[in-house]
Amino acid sequence: MCGIFGYTGKRVVVETVLQGLKRLEYRGYDSAGIAGLHGDQLLFCKQVGKIDTLQERVQSEGMVLDLAIAHTRWATHGKPSDVNAHPHFDASGKLALVHNGIIENEAELKQELKKKGIAFTTDTDTEVIAKLIGWFYEGDLLRALKTALPLLKGAFALAMIHEEHPGKLIAVARQSPLLIGVGKGETFLSSDANAFASYTREVIPLSEGEVAILTASSIQIFNASLEMIEKERHELDMEIAAPTKGSFAHYTLKEIFEQPQAARNALLSHCDEEQGVAIFPEFRVMPLDAEFIQRLLIIACGTSFHAGLIASYSIEEMARIPVTVEIASEFRYKQPLILPGTLVVAISQSGETADTLAAVRLVKAQGFKVIGLCNVQGSTLAREADETIFLKAGPEVGVCSTKAFTSQLTVLTLLSLFLARYREMSREEGQRFIKELYQLPNQIQRILDQSDEIERIAKKYAHLSEVFFIGRNLMYPAALEAALKLKEISYINANAYPGGELKHGPLALISPESLLVALTAHEPTFDKIQSNIQEVKARGAAVLAICYEGEKRLEARVEDQLFIPRTRGVLTPILTTVALQLFAYYIAKERGASIDQPRNLAKSVSVE
Ligand code: F6R
Repeated sequence: MCGIFGYTGKRVVVETVLQGLKRLEYRGYDSAGIAGLHGDQLLFCKQVGKIDTLQERVQSEGMVLDLAIAHTRWATHGKPSDVNAHPHFDASGKLALVHNGIIENEAELKQELKKKGIAFTTDTDTEVIAKLIGWFYEGDLLRALKTALPLLKGAFALAMIHEEHPGKLIAVARQSPLLIGVGKGETFLSSDANAFASYTREVIPLSEGEVAILTASSIQIFNASLEMIEKERHELDMEIAAPTKGSFAHYTLKEIFEQPQAARNALLSHCDEEQGVAIFPEFRVMPLDAEFIQRLLIIACGTSFHAGLIASYSIEEMARIPVTVEIASEFRYKQPLILPGTLVVAISQSGETADTLAAVRLVKAQGFKVIGLCNVQGSTLAREADETIFLKAGPEVGVCSTKAFTSQLTVLTLLSLFLARYREMSREEGQRFIKELYQLPNQIQRILDQSDEIERIAKKYAHLSEVFFIGRNLMYPAALEAALKLKEISYINANAYPGGELKHGPLALISPESLLVALTAHEPTFDKIQSNIQEVKARGAAVLAICYEGEKRLEARVEDQLFIPRTRGVLTPILTTVALQLFAYYIAKERGASIDQPRNLAKSVSVE
């Protein structure tokens, strides 16, 4: 997490850097700071809170800089506070540094530096880096880095400036994203190319311990051994429309309402209606040899993991291929056994989730090819995967994933169709499937059209402190996702269980103060989930059932019902999810929560 932005060039530096930083606020928003050089003077400003607050202060102080680095923080070491905000400084106060990532051996290094008489003023691991580099500095920054960097354990990206090196930005990246934007007479540095894409499309990504020394007109890059190297420049082909909320109160709500279009985009050019098959024209090199795929391994975190879980049901049902879904942060420490014939799919909205990337590297090191499913063009996953399918959902700004999730499900359903057609599914069945897929955008719209009713029901339950979700079959991972959404933006303790698991423990928690949300729109398990509803009602809890339109069997048995259009089973999680995203949103709104930027979270989890 954390966002880094740096700039040197002819523009108004403070304004350019803060504008860039705002585009990185999704990476963390506990505190923000800026440091720069004005002549040979190092100036800085940092404080707890969001970038707008920093901007007001910087403007009121009339800060003017010749070049600058800036940072938006998601706290890892040390609570969010003015003192822990970046930049941090070496003992001389001449070196200012901002950091994304985690230094795993910060305690030992701090101890060593303290023994040498160096005093620390913050609780951050970042201050250790600054003090360490400062300790080795004798006038040559590169030489100081050469000694200091090998002592740091962990994944990190750094940007720094030094009073004795006017005109220079210094950048370091080890397994954390940091990209150089090459302009005409100006140079940018950012954790995400999107933040400078409106100024330049020419990009050099740093990686594997590389160091860069940047001026407005020159770029020098060194490998981890600090030998000068040449790096290729890439042309960005991402869209650069700055996201706005439009008439919506929150980005999250806007993004929920963008889902019909996002589903259309995900389907676009992926269906051959005539043949009744899915196609993936974006694959550059790797043919998707469906005949040879014997099993799938899906790797992801959080909401993307839930998309993978749902897909495991649809792929197994439709294509009869076994699927394993792994949480990346667990998988990578497992010494995994991957069998020949495995197609590996890594799902990540941001393409920057550290654990997912580490899992991808592990899989690739074992000689397997990886398909990335990603929303952000130019992201690390898009660069490292052998092939990438882009969701084309447009930028997702709200920290909780909404439209990216349903787009992931749409694309994964296409993958199920693709694999199924190479197995037993007939062309006619494939054609029927595509017809149903094409109805998705309108069906999603029909749920959005019920937002007033969903808001009414949400208000009724917004005071609760605990909510249970149940589902069976692929509605169980849909329940997991619904619970995650609710807890994330409303801070209500929400948990999901497979319907059949309630009586193995969770029923003990049910009381007349509980709400059970039952995901019932799955015909094969309807009777069973109905019994689970009865068990919960017998303990006095209220029940909200998410049902297919026209469902009468539950009318007299539950307090509230929300209706979704009837569709094929494997598509139902998408529709159920949209209804429950709105439910979570309106509960959070009623509780006055910070919906777009929930406490303690960040959009891109680039630390392990
Ligand atoms: C929840 C949410 C997170 C992300 C997770 C993985 O709403 O957004 O759980 O899904 O951090 O992020 P990506 O998909 O970017 O790898």
